[in-house]
Amino acid sequence: MKVLTVLALSLATPALAAEGKVEINPPEAATRDEGLAAFARIYEVASHPRCSNCHVGDDHRPMWSGPSYGKTRPHGMNINGGESRIGAETLLCSTCHVTSGIPNNAPHAAPQVAADWQLAPVEAAWFGKDADHICQQLRDPEQNGGRDMLELAAHLDHDVILHWAWSPGGTREPAPYSLQEHVNDILIWGVAGFPCAADPVEESSND
Ligand code: HEC
Ligand code: HEC
Repeated sequence: MKVLTVLALSLATPALAAEGKVEINPPEAATRDEGLAAFARIYEVASHPRCSNCHVGDDHRPMWSGPSYGKTRPHGMNINGGESRIGAETLLCSTCHVTSGIPNNAPHAAPQVAADWQLAPVEAAWFGKDADHICQQLRDPEQNGGRDMLELAAHLDHDVILHWAWSPGGTREPAPYSLQEHVNDILIWGVAGFPCAADPVEESSND
């Protein structure tokens, strides 16, 4: 029941341009194996270029990777998000990634969404990280923006950048699965107790 309260609270938070198309229905129960299978799919999404290009570490350099970019390299034009993660120290991301929200589908145009385009927090650096690293980070409220499972799932729907990742325009490949399936996987993984494959297995780990 505590779970439902949290859900109500996070859904009541005014969302920035929420599209609200995603349903948040956690399963009644999920086994460790189901949780691990869900996380394997979550990892496919998190490590996909549409996500990891922005989820970079403390060199603050967004990446250009994925088939539409040819070879993997740091963002052209020497772009650096800086500690502000929005480029305040040099050139703001919003100079090119404008917030008009009018999609620009021309190949190689800067992606545009109705939100401030910026690097993800350093703790959520995913680029080049393996599944266990991302698993540990994502389940840790101290490293994931203080979110529990339902807040994590609700956040995904509210974030217009996420909606962009599944319809990125130009010749970019969308993130795998769909936003709804990704949210479902977060919920399965959470109900299963956020298992990571590298965790020591105990007989009664699914209570
Ligand atoms: C334009 C850059 C950008 C892209 C692309 C991007 N993110 Fe993020 N991400 C962010 C920012 C900025 C935050 C911090 C926002 C906040 O905490 O409200 C964030 C936070 C998150 C969080 C919150 C938890 C945490 O560990 O900090 C999750 C989960 C997340 N992103 C998932 C994704 C997924 C999945 C994709 C791809 C489908 C993706 N992101 C693509 C910029 C991006
Ligand atoms: C001078 C213009 C300009 C600025 C400033 C700029 N970008 Fe970009 N960005 C682009 C263009 C153009 C593309 C698309 C290139 C392509 O598709 O070949 C792009 C693509 C990206 C991508 C790849 C998205 C994908 O396809 O997965 C990320 C991530 C990114 N930018 C992040 C940032 C961040 C973060 C900042 C601020 C620190 C920033 N950009 C500042 C022009 C800019």
